[in-house]
Amino acid sequence: MNIPWVEKYRPQTLDDVIGQDQIVKRLQRYVEEEALPNIMFTGSAGVGKTTCAIALAKALLGEYWQQNFLELNASDARGIDTVRNQIKSFCKLKAVGAPFRIIFLDEVDNMTKDAQQALRREMEMYTKTSSFILSCNYSSKIIDPIQSRCAIFRFTPIKAGQIIKRLRVIADKENLKVEDSALEDIVYFTQGDMRKSINILQASTTSDKSVTTEAVLDVINRAKPKSVRKMIMKALDHDFMGARDELRDIMIMDGVSGDDLISQMYQEVNKMTNEKIIPETDFIKLMEYMSECDYRIREGSNARLQIEALLSKFLIVKQEA
Ligand SMILES: Nc1ncnc2c1ncn2[C@@H]1O[C@H](COP(=O)(O)OP(=O)(O)O)[C@@H](O)[C@H]1O
Ligand SMILES: [Mg+2]
Repeated sequence: MNIPWVEKYRPQTLDDVIGQDQIVKRLQRYVEEEALPNIMFTGSAGVGKTTCAIALAKALLGEYWQQNFLELNASDARGIDTVRNQIKSFCKLKAVGAPFRIIFLDEVDNMTKDAQQALRREMEMYTKTSSFILSCNYSSKIIDPIQSRCAIFRFTPIKAGQIIKRLRVIADKENLKVEDSALEDIVYFTQGDMRKSINILQASTTSDKSVTTEAVLDVINRAKPKSVRKMIMKALDHDFMGARDELRDIMIMDGVSGDDLISQMYQEVNKMTNEKIIPETDFIKLMEYMSECDYRIREGSNARLQIEALLSKFLIVKQEA
């Protein structure tokens, strides 16, 4: 009974899906009408696309949904021809025990343009018997003829509060003792990705069924938001040596990588601007410095040196103001 919690707690019906309210409403209309046009789900990972596709199929196809539902991944290692052959042989057969058949094709944005053209022809060929649900992260990577043949549903990241609520429900069912700050840390890190949030909760659970901030930060290998803020504050207050010490603790003692830290700094500066600790004019300059530093780190230069140089620029920003 060691199934991953993401599967154990996957919503089984559209009603149970969290967030995505407008999408769920539109999908429920298809269920009422007992018909499904070709549709496309777009949005980042872990926000409910696959969940909605399965829940919709169950609602539309009823008891025999599994026989009439085909789930495929477009980036199947065996190649796109395998995927297309599976679609063909599935669509040729008539639906049994259900009004029509549904093909759920995930990661369509990983298909080449040529493969997408072929897919479009298949979608047209089988319109009488089958409906397609296509899923992708970026709709801009999908050719226009497919986009124009689909009703498009844009999934949004799940709100932090909604994720925390869901994690609490799971924690209750699993009899966990969870620190509030641990949940805050999870959502700060996962940025609206429910799958990642649940996975981190499970991975951070200790043998005595508790989830602490410390365990969470250990799992995600991230700096404590408080330390990042302290470092930024010191730099803004012209305490360069102090900021450098903080940086050393974060990178050397806690083992946080340069690109993780820079994105955390970005998040923290954003927050501090919202809280009016950093004036907007400074914010603009800081963004420029941070993106430059981010670029250099990605290009392979020494991360600690780059971030030190970045911190020295934080000092100047305040001086210029
Ligand atoms: N909107 C949501 N409501 C409730 N749980 C969700 C939601 N989105 C994702 N999850 C959780 O995350 C897991 C992965 O979600 P999934 O629908 O597969 O995401 P994706 O958008 O990447 O297809 C689900 O099994 C479920 O546990
Ligand atoms: Mg998915």
